[in-house]
Amino acid sequence: MAQSGMLAYRHAFHAGNHADVLKHLVLVQVLRYMNLKDKGWRYVDTHAGAGGYSLEGDYAAKRGEYEQGIARLWGRDDLPEPLADLVRLVRDFNDGAALKQYPGSPALAQVLMRPQDQLRLIEMHPTDHKILASYLGDLQGVEVQLGDGYAALKSTLPPPTRRGVALIDPPYEIKTDYPRVLAALREALERFPECVVVIWLPQLQLIESAQLPQRLKAAADAGAKKGWLMARLTVAEADARGFGMLGSSVFVANPPHTLHDTLQPVLPWLAQELAQFPGARSALERSAKA
Ligand SMILES: C[S@@+](CC[C@H](N)C(=O)[O-])C[C@H]1O[C@@H](n2cnc3c(N)ncnc32)[C@H](O)[C@@H]1O
Repeated sequence: MAQSGMLAYRHAFHAGNHADVLKHLVLVQVLRYMNLKDKGWRYVDTHAGAGGYSLEGDYAAKRGEYEQGIARLWGRDDLPEPLADLVRLVRDFNDGAALKQYPGSPALAQVLMRPQDQLRLIEMHPTDHKILASYLGDLQGVEVQLGDGYAALKSTLPPPTRRGVALIDPPYEIKTDYPRVLAALREALERFPECVVVIWLPQLQLIESAQLPQRLKAAADAGAKKGWLMARLTVAEADARGFGMLGSSVFVANPPHTLHDTLQPVLPWLAQELAQFPGARSALERSAKA
């Protein structure tokens, strides 16, 4: 793994939380599957972030979201294999020592890439872009871009080898992210119907959040060669005003055909381990084609 000398604090509030665990569990499994064939792949991370996060800074420690996420899996010797795989990668990122840092999606993709693979990492925030560029930007096969990740899909898909994975992982701090994610999925599939598109989405008590899964499914039904899969983890209750993230989902268009069976035994286990209330649960759905 590339050296992570400079780590971000800005998004460290959330780094390593239950949502990151779910998202990165799925991402690692997708890239492992891509590695079963020699032909090179291209990974496009539209909202790449800083690449790695310190869990020791004021930001992370104040909220400590990782304590109810990755920290609950750390040091366990009874993890189901796909989670053991993720925890090993996080352990490598910490040089095998205590849990002090958490890798972002670009760092995970970078350890899984081979010489024939490519990373296209797009980040709009100048500070995070700078950290990401200094961390991974000089590596062979890696391109770090400052700009709008949705727009960058046009220039990055399809890759010449026609093997590709896109991760669309926006903050959803602004409501335009919901329609833009849907448009991005449609556009990615139009350009490249075999593209594995991984989309993270929050589970909030908001109409936009409730409607997005149905819309993504319809778009993938129309445009994805190999259907879709959606994994959901519900770990918390909304507060009295209906605010707060209850959990999250990962939607995958053109999922690896093994992904459903890989995740099926893991998700209920993970929901129990990351539970913040007695009703924690998971769900796994797929289309007939997946
Ligand atoms: C949830 S974080 C990404 C985390 C990262 N994918 C990971 O798993 O480690 C979302 C990032 O998107 C960036 N961002 C927001 N809007 C963007 C846009 N339109 N294009 C590219 N990046 C954007 C934010 O600055 C933030 O760093």
